[in-house]
Amino acid sequence: MRDSYGRTIEYMRISITDRCNLRCRYCMPDGAKWIPMSEILTYEEIERICREAVRIGITRFKITGGEPLVRKGCADLIRMIRQIPGTEEVTMTTNGVLLGENLEDLLAAGLDAVNISLDTLIPEKYQEITGADELERVRKSIFMAEKSEIRVKINTVLQKGVNDEEWKSLAELAKKNKLDVRFIELMPIGQGRAENGISGAWVLGKLKEAYGIEGEFYPLEGRFGNGPAVYYQLPGFQGKIGLISALHGKFCDRCNRIRMTSTGKLKACLCYADTISVFEAARHGSEEEIRKCLEQAIRGKPKMHHFEEQNFITEQKNMSQIGG
Ligand code: GTP
Ligand code: 5AD
Ligand code: SF4
Repeated sequence: MRDSYGRTIEYMRISITDRCNLRCRYCMPDGAKWIPMSEILTYEEIERICREAVRIGITRFKITGGEPLVRKGCADLIRMIRQIPGTEEVTMTTNGVLLGENLEDLLAAGLDAVNISLDTLIPEKYQEITGADELERVRKSIFMAEKSEIRVKINTVLQKGVNDEEWKSLAELAKKNKLDVRFIELMPIGQGRAENGISGAWVLGKLKEAYGIEGEFYPLEGRFGNGPAVYYQLPGFQGKIGLISALHGKFCDRCNRIRMTSTGKLKACLCYADTISVFEAARHGSEEEIRKCLEQAIRGKPKMHHFEEQNFITEQKNMSQIGG
């Protein structure tokens, strides 16, 4: 389906839980309260919504959280969505802690690709950023996923004075391994403060300098995912480097997505507070009612984000409730 600015909406990000087994400081505040399960869509309800989404042209789904793998039966949901006729792709974004032990089930369920968050390779720093001593487990998960048949991307948020000096060692994960590494600009959502982030332009400058690229460095053409990342190929690298310039890149004219929170709030743009609830329709309503909610959300999709203006920032305080 097209929105009122002519953009085709074909991708839906579904947050299946607000809970997480890490506490990344920029994402979740101390003492975050979990949403009660009674307010959270069941897998059957999510599947109903996805069926209607497919009917209006949404064919690719991203499962997010919080941390999606802390919700029991996550692989079952992936299988349910993957089996809907018309679904082209089901992917997941995870912090990787539970990925290794769930990988076999996820692959069997038909997961097409996985994005794994990793901001540092230093154990003490990992503890400082995420509040947990899980780096080894995440590295093992990455290693296992890389050896599997699905596409793997690493998501890295660089923060000034925290992990910015690690940009090169993180980028070089894409040198020896069959995976892409993407640097994401910190967004002013939840605990994130834009001024603590690092711009994509800075990373690009560093890459050019370090790998002897002179003059214009052109991004790769073609589609390598669903999102707003721009990809570059460095000499001698197996994987690509991606930049997600969430603040500085105005990629909104190519936006292809809507989001759904675990409580069934449809969010047409990451930046705005407005949502349309599909919860009642999914729990008690007809297929048509579900479809109407989806259509209404898509029709109301704003033209672009305005992260630079404080007033526009979403009311949902934590990124963990939106799913990124
Ligand atoms: P693939 O392209 O399928 O790999 O996924 P993706 O990049 O869409 O998803 P992922 O969940 O890995 O998100 C990576 C980062 O991009 C997260 O920090 C998201 O918050 C951010 N992001 C995703 N979609 C948008 C968007 O529409 N606008 C902005 N500003 N950021 C986004
Ligand atoms: N700005 C940018 N990225 C964020 N993430 C979480 N919060 C923010 C933020 N405020 C990232 C996580 C994860 C991805 C899903 O979103 O690091 O990699
Ligand atoms: Fe959990 Fe991801 Fe938020 Fe970190 S960024 S607390 S891993 S949801």
